[in-house]
Amino acid sequence: MEMKKIGIITSGGDCGGLNAVIIGAARMAHHLGIEATLIPNGYAGLYNLENLNLVTIDISRADKIHSGVAGSEAGHSRVKISKINDPDKYEKIKTGLKKHNIDGLIIAGGDDTGSVVVDLLKQGIKCIHVPKTMDLDLQTYSVGGDSTINRIAKFTDDLRTTGLTHNRALIIEVFGRYAGHTAFRGGLGADADAILIPEVEVDYEILYQHFKKTYINRLVNSDVRGSTYIIVAAEGVKNKEGKYFTDTVSTDSFGHQRLSGVGKFIRTQLEHYTKQDPDWKTVLQQEGIYVEGIYMYPEIREVSLGHLVRAGATSAYDVTFGKQAGGAAVHLMKSGIYGVTVVGVESTLITYIPTEEAIKQRFVDLDEVSFHESLGVCFGRIPEEYQPKYNLQTGKVHRYM
Ligand code: F6P
Repeated sequence: MEMKKIGIITSGGDCGGLNAVIIGAARMAHHLGIEATLIPNGYAGLYNLENLNLVTIDISRADKIHSGVAGSEAGHSRVKISKINDPDKYEKIKTGLKKHNIDGLIIAGGDDTGSVVVDLLKQGIKCIHVPKTMDLDLQTYSVGGDSTINRIAKFTDDLRTTGLTHNRALIIEVFGRYAGHTAFRGGLGADADAILIPEVEVDYEILYQHFKKTYINRLVNSDVRGSTYIIVAAEGVKNKEGKYFTDTVSTDSFGHQRLSGVGKFIRTQLEHYTKQDPDWKTVLQQEGIYVEGIYMYPEIREVSLGHLVRAGATSAYDVTFGKQAGGAAVHLMKSGIYGVTVVGVESTLITYIPTEEAIKQRFVDLDEVSFHESLGVCFGRIPEEYQPKYNLQTGKVHRYM
């Protein structure tokens, strides 16, 4: 069947690069003689399609969308179709698609969104998945990841000045859900002293010793007696019982609780060791900072970057990748290839993998953790020696995160 009209959906948590996906898909569709429409508000919009008026993204409408800003012109919702309490939900969606003459869907999102893509495909709805998540935990690169890690690095760097001015240790808590990619890459990008991720069980005494040594070293080597210590912590770092930190009991339709509170927990752990360590009095007295009863230990503060890490400016990498992935999805669809996730565009090759494969969760590689432990970063454990192997690379060498 000839592809005449596509619907574009963006879904899940928003982030950088989504508008680039929309522009890539819409402009490529136009180029190939296909009409592109925007289905608003993710799967909530798809479910209600019958009753909606859709916007066609032709060249002049595409011109009003700026790919350099985060968020999505299409709007989002966290709705799992299979959870909708309506026995006719799939028929309702098919009726909506028919009403608008939509032949296939291009759906940008992460693992949850991808699981719905798999579900819709089983119902005979033609879809292609464009990988999107700031969490970077898909098997493929996902649009939004680069923008987020750059923002984490930038905000962390910005916070360093206030940390240093007030001689405070700072814990910067960042989104990323159950994987530590954003804390890992963002923390490395900001020269963080410590990076805590869900993949590593944190020993707070080891973290404390690293903090003490680094902070004091910085202090005694400063001609203006300034010091700080920067920790970037993934929101998904677990407590001693292996549980996530969360201050809410409500869950979304995919069963996720909002994670928050790990920064405060890390602070209380560090304060516990700091307050019982007599060395601080000696060092702070020696450096002329000590004030009995008022300033007896370095202050430790936590800052949660929250939604700032997925808002604002989109990196040039994500704009480029987003446009390529959106445009490539249209090519795949026109060629009758569905149920797959776009991996990338390399020369004339459009690469893709089955969506079931793409959404399998990927975690931070612990050998890469060891690599950065060799460079002095603390991950809250006894450093493990990096064991390199050597290999002469043949063929393609491109790899990003
Ligand atoms: O999955 C993307 C993400 O930003 C996670 O890192 C974070 O835990 C979650 O979304 C927050 O979602 P919401 O904005 O729905 O609270």
